[in-house]
Amino acid sequence: MSNDAIVLLKNDHKEIRKLFAAFEKAGDNAEATKGRLVKKMIELLTVHTYIENEVMYPRVRELLPEVEDDVLESYEEHHVADVLVMELAGMKPSHERFTAKTMVLIENVRHHIEEEEQDWFPKVRDGLNRKVLQEIGEEMLKARKKAPRKPSQPSALKKTIDAVIA
Ligand SMILES: [Fe+2]
Ligand SMILES: [Fe+2]
Repeated sequence: MSNDAIVLLKNDHKEIRKLFAAFEKAGDNAEATKGRLVKKMIELLTVHTYIENEVMYPRVRELLPEVEDDVLESYEEHHVADVLVMELAGMKPSHERFTAKTMVLIENVRHHIEEEEQDWFPKVRDGLNRKVLQEIGEEMLKARKKAPRKPSQPSALKKTIDAVIA
């Protein structure tokens, strides 16, 4: 398995996109299926956001100051997703706003993933050599092991609160 930072993040994106597509395909009344898919989305997004916030974004920002604006925009996009994820984590699939909220999360995250893949990753690939990207990848694999899996876990919550009051 590759330990290249961009490859790792793209693999995560692929898993996340699959869940989004499955949610959209689930019928209007498929409450149990939708509930299960959202639970999985919450887990994958919480872990993915954590390793990007803790490792990828700060490392790249430090090594490639020219992509700073992209990084700052990404933090804000993560923050919007964090708020939706946190609300969804406390909501039953039977709630009238559950599907609508999930669809807004999907739209936001899809846009964010597209920007990362089409805009940001190519700049990072150009600016950093393979070895550096592998080192960042290794660091993310380590961070993944201690990453929160639910937005209610202290390390995830702290991130959201810091973003609001900092
Ligand atoms: Fe991201
Ligand atoms: Fe990402």
